[in-house]
Amino acid sequence: MNSDSQNAPRAPARILSTDPASLAEAASKILAGGLVAVPTETVYGLAADATNGAAVASIYTAKGRPSFNPLICHVADLAMAESLADFSPLARALAARFWPGPLTLVLPRKSSCPVHELATAGLPSIAVRQPQHIATLEIISRVGRPLAAPSANPSEQLSPTTAAHVAAGLGSRIDLIIDGGPCSAGLESTIIAPGEDGAVMLRAGALARSEIELLTGPLRSPDHAKGIVAPGMLRRHYAPHARLRLGATAPESGEAFLAFGAPPSGVSPSLNLSIRGDLAEAATNLFAMLRALDETHDSIAVAPIPNVGLGEALNDRLRRGAAHSRENEL
Ligand code: TXA
Ligand code: MG
Repeated sequence: MNSDSQNAPRAPARILSTDPASLAEAASKILAGGLVAVPTETVYGLAADATNGAAVASIYTAKGRPSFNPLICHVADLAMAESLADFSPLARALAARFWPGPLTLVLPRKSSCPVHELATAGLPSIAVRQPQHIATLEIISRVGRPLAAPSANPSEQLSPTTAAHVAAGLGSRIDLIIDGGPCSAGLESTIIAPGEDGAVMLRAGALARSEIELLTGPLRSPDHAKGIVAPGMLRRHYAPHARLRLGATAPESGEAFLAFGAPPSGVSPSLNLSIRGDLAEAATNLFAMLRALDETHDSIAVAPIPNVGLGEALNDRLRRGAAHSRENEL
């Protein structure tokens, strides 16, 4: 795809199901250098052949994303991952325990790794994950190469958890969307860099810290001095247009109220992330509910969410979404 065709009006992307013919079409589109939005258990990804530099470049163009931001390479199985990266025993144990699933491993890139340097932004490391969605695993197997796939949304906007969200954000900029239903986790993967002296958590996500720590011991925070940070962790990220007010017990006049758990008496929430106070259910609903309230309100008050388990990732996304609002500065 060249920049002229990027700017010219295009037909909206076709939305296909997960039947075998559609998956075959998705795979051949990708092999031809096209962009296909694919379902995963976390969020929808905007996938291209990770070994094709022009295809990877078109991901950045479609998303309007700063090109220094490296992408996650999605693999069909551990064997494909091991052809890209060096696995330490700890990395292998993490993959064996959590793949397919919402865990991304940042590992040393193999010198024979076929992934285009643009996908890894020239870094000596590579982020890999085996997603847990049968349709996307089938597409990767058919392509026979890793797929570079960031979340399928315009840069800085909310991650999509349905095919309709993808169509609304990127429909005019991509070729195809595979509709695999709503994402079961609804939050991006947790990103871990396992090292010799323990593991670093680069991004909180759909796999809770406590589960990973059973294998890794205490996870460390990114060491900014050493530059081991996920560059995608820009502070303002995952943002709705509306102003977010966090930790709110009740809405003020004109605000929507996004509740978590039973609301205080007399308060009627606009939407409830989980009336049962279930963090996994809240994670599944977060982006879709922010998106819905963003359509109707300029300001959204969000109830406090406990910072345990998946609450760590939920609060991270909310703080980033709120970062443009002065009173919520991190
Ligand atoms: O759940 C997910 O992870 C989704 C689905 C589609 O798999 N993908 C996703 O990708 O969230 P993306 O590109 O939006 O986020 C990738 C993150 C960014 O924060 C990026 O900076 C970081 O991974 N990353 C990628 N390669 C890295 C590397 N070599 N070192 C450190 N961070 C890296
Ligand atoms: Mg993203």
